[in-house]
Amino acid sequence: MRIRIIGVGMGPQHVTPEAAEALRGCDYVIAAAKNTDDGLLAARRAIAGAHGVEVVAVPDPPRDREADYERAVADWHEARVSAYESVLRERGGTAAFLVWGDPSLYDSTIRIVERLAARLPIDYDVLPGISAPQLLAARHRIVLHPVGGPVHVTTGRRLREDIAAGQTNLCVMLNAHLDLAGLEDWSLWWGANLGTPTEALAAGRVGDVLDEIERARDGAKAAAGWVMDLYLLRAPA
Ligand SMILES: C[S@@+](CC[C@H](N)C(=O)[O-])C[C@H]1O[C@@H](n2cnc3c(N)ncnc32)[C@H](O)[C@@H]1O
Repeated sequence: MRIRIIGVGMGPQHVTPEAAEALRGCDYVIAAAKNTDDGLLAARRAIAGAHGVEVVAVPDPPRDREADYERAVADWHEARVSAYESVLRERGGTAAFLVWGDPSLYDSTIRIVERLAARLPIDYDVLPGISAPQLLAARHRIVLHPVGGPVHVTTGRRLREDIAAGQTNLCVMLNAHLDLAGLEDWSLWWGANLGTPTEALAAGRVGDVLDEIERARDGAKAAAGWVMDLYLLRAPA
């Protein structure tokens, strides 16, 4: 049995020739299917279909939103692993997981496959995709870090503690909302729904662009039915 973990960027236009060749060599794609309107499943179906590969949709186990976050995520991953294990035992062959963006950033697929490989005789590899930070940088025509300096990739949830710890150049993902009070003089490069028809961009001094971003974020959500955004945030020089 073999699993190929394939990064597909932000849509079919980002599927690299290497990823496409790997996908065409697979017998089927395993994809989680959520109960509600599932744009990501639709995107995976479109990509798999374009390369003539069947999608096996696996109902995504519910996540306990009331429980402790780490515990709830661990339980959810365990339930997912068991569901995928059943499919693999039944079908065998070469399966693909199509990962939004790149598998190395805020994605659990590699960890899930490691757990599958502990239960089944599986060989697996990873094919890179274009990540949201790469697309953000390209759209704004910027380098993510100052010359010779670092970029700290983090989540909206951790932003305040990372700034308190001294970070001054942050790429912030997984934002439930934008909380930038007190950072009005920092610089911001923001993007939502990148690579899709509802893409939105804004950049400038936080105090000058925050209202525009809130409106653009609401607009992207209304147009697409969902919004995913990230930003680069840099302290004043
Ligand atoms: C679960 S993470 C997946 C990241 C993905 N593996 C990558 O390589 O970019 C989802 C977060 O990535 C960012 N993201 C993913 N797709 C995006 C898009 N098309 N436009 C803007 N941000 C996006 C958002 O911060 C979102 O909350």
